[in-house]
Formats: sequence, structure tokens, C-alpha cells
Amino acid sequence: MATVTIENLRKIYGDFVAVDNMSLEVKDGEFLILLGPSGCGKTTTLRMLAGFVEQNNGRLAIGERDVTAEPPYRRNIGLVFQNYALFPHLTIFENVAFGLRRRKLPEDEIKLRVREALELVRLGHLEDRYPKQMSGGQQQRVAIARAIAIRPDILLLDEPLSNLDAKLRLQVRDELRALQKKLNITTIMVTHDQDEAMYVGDRLVVMQEGKIQQIGTPIELYNNPANRFVASFIGRTNFVEGEIAKGETSFKAKSGTVIATTAAARASNEIVVRPEMIELSAQKTDEANCFDAEITSSVFLGGNIEIVATLPMGDAFTVITTVKHLKDRGLAAEIGSRLVLSFSPESAVLM
Ligand SMILES: Nc1ncnc2c1ncn2[C@@H]1O[C@H](COP(=O)(O)OP(=O)(O)O)[C@@H](O)[C@H]1O
Ligand SMILES: [Mg+2]
Repeated sequence: MATVTIENLRKIYGDFVAVDNMSLEVKDGEFLILLGPSGCGKTTTLRMLAGFVEQNNGRLAIGERDVTAEPPYRRNIGLVFQNYALFPHLTIFENVAFGLRRRKLPEDEIKLRVREALELVRLGHLEDRYPKQMSGGQQQRVAIARAIAIRPDILLLDEPLSNLDAKLRLQVRDELRALQKKLNITTIMVTHDQDEAMYVGDRLVVMQEGKIQQIGTPIELYNNPANRFVASFIGRTNFVEGEIAKGETSFKAKSGTVIATTAAARASNEIVVRPEMIELSAQKTDEANCFDAEITSSVFLGGNIEIVATLPMGDAFTVITTVKHLKDRGLAAEIGSRLVLSFSPESAVLM
């Protein structure tokens, strides 16, 4: 097992910077996620780590080992791709054995490791099948078994769940997280799906246009997003534009609404309020950030109901609640209903 050190990693295609001076330290045993929209440089970063794409600049180390100039086969990395990439003409056993045969391990050792890896993904009973005789979820578990059979120092996964249908995706996601924790192998996974990232990741690296925007645990990113991009990418958010000067505690929205905040560490032009932080009630109180509002949109989502409550000055806040919660407070969910919306100054986070 090992740490991973990425220093000033950079990749340029022509005059396009795909990965821009990326530096990052992955801890031993950590499950790290590279998260960002399509085209932000996630796959390129992973391929540079694996050694398939040569960087223009930067240094890479696995543990104490500098691998910057090492060819892929000497980096001892387990790889899993989106499209499984199993060999169709080989049995499941031989697919998993592939990397071990290339390493010229003795037959006994190969058998032992293949069976162990297949047991770990609960496919020991299917070793004689061919890939086309298996479901997508099973094929992806074979690909994971193949990656771990070589006992890699680190595991790299590129969107491993995105070819699976919604239900399987959740199941394999659970298994992947449990397996990673069990093996305690340093893992870097790429995804564009924030739910997936928050679910499996110990820490998330949020990327945009080849640059790291923020690194942190799911909770850190959620509670203290570094900028608008991170705030909008992680969870749902209400943005309010306006201004506040350094040291002040009143944010003046463009609309004219005044919102109480904690003392501003610096001047800011925007605040975010998470939908879950907003309380709905029937009675106005004289506490901070308590506003009359009218429901201007209401969408029933099964367990939850998503409403938009609009203040007299026009500021619209999305709130996620339940039918029961509204009923308990004597509130209706229909468009045009009136209610009172409130949130604490701490919940108004300055960007
Ligand atoms: N071989 C290549 N030649 C030119 N441009 C590339 C190449 N590979 C990737 N790119 C570009 O680099 C950017 C990042 O790509 P990629 O790392 O695949 O993004 P992601 O995995 O985040 O979707 C994209 O704009 C992509 O078009
Ligand atoms: Mg990609």
C-alpha cells in the first residue's frame, strides 16, 4: 500500500491545457475521487498516473518510488475502466489471470490469487464463464477482480460505474466501497457524478478546466465551498448576489433584501444558502433572516417535495421538504400559498 504524490502535473495538447499544474498528495489507504464535468481533465490525469499519457511537466511518486519516467507495467497499478475491457475470448478465470501470467507467476500462485480475487467480488462460482454470459455489473466486478489480483500498490478507476443501469450502479458502488475499505488499498476514482463521489470518497478533488478548484472531505466541500463552481457542483444551492464589506454582518442583496450573516472575513459579492438549512413556518418571528414568502413553484418528488419560495423583493429560494413537514406546520404546498421562510446567519455562507 502506498501514498501517491502528484507535483505540478501538466498536460498540453497543441495549445490546449488539459491538466494545469496539478499538485496533490493522496494518503495511504485513502479513497480519493477526481470529480468534475466532462472534459475537465480527469481521465488525462488518471492516464498520466498509469503511464499511458506522457506529461509535459511534473513529478509522480507512489510511496517513496518516483515513477515519473517508469513505463506503465513497472508502476504496479491496478486499472479499471468504464467499459470493463474484458477479453471476450477468455474465461473469467483467464481474464483475471491475465496480468499474473504476464508476470510469469507459478501456476499454483496464479490459481490462488485468481480465486481469492473472484471471491472478493463474490464471483468465485462463475470462473468458467465467458464475459458475454454475464451481466454488466458482473463484468465490472470481474474487471475489479482483475485489477486487484496483481496486488497493486494503488488502484485507479475511470468512471467504473457509468455503464451500469441505475439500480446496479448503486449496488456495485456499495460493493466497491466495502472492498476498498477491506483491502485498504490507496484508490483514485474518476467520476462526474457528485452523489457517487460523496458516497464513496474519503476526499474529493473538484476539477474544472484542468485545474483543481478545491480538495476536501464531502462535508468540508458541502459546508465551505471555495467558490461558486464547487458550491453548484456539490449538492443543491441557492445563490444570492449582492455585497458585503469585510467585517460586516449584513449582506445587501441586489434585490434590496438584507440578509444577516456571520462577520465577513473579506468583502464578497455572493452568498449561498443550502436548501436543507431553510426552515418553513406559518408565523413570522423577530429573529434574523425571517421573511414572508410565497410559493412560486412546487414539485412533488415522492419522498420529498421541492418548493420555490419567493420573497417580496423577488429573491427565490429552493427548499426541499416533505409533505408531512408542511402539514405539521399547517402549510400548504400549492403555488400561491403564503408562508414564512427563515435561516440562521451561519447558514448564509459567503463566497
Ligand atoms: N489525445 C488528445 N488529443 C487532444 N485533446 C485531448 C486528448 N485527450 C483529451 N483531450 C482533451 O483534453 C480535455 C480533457 O479530457 P479528459 O481528460 O478526457 O476529460 P474528462 O475525463 O474529465 O472528461 C478535453 O477537452 C479533451 O478533448
Ligand atoms: Mg473521462
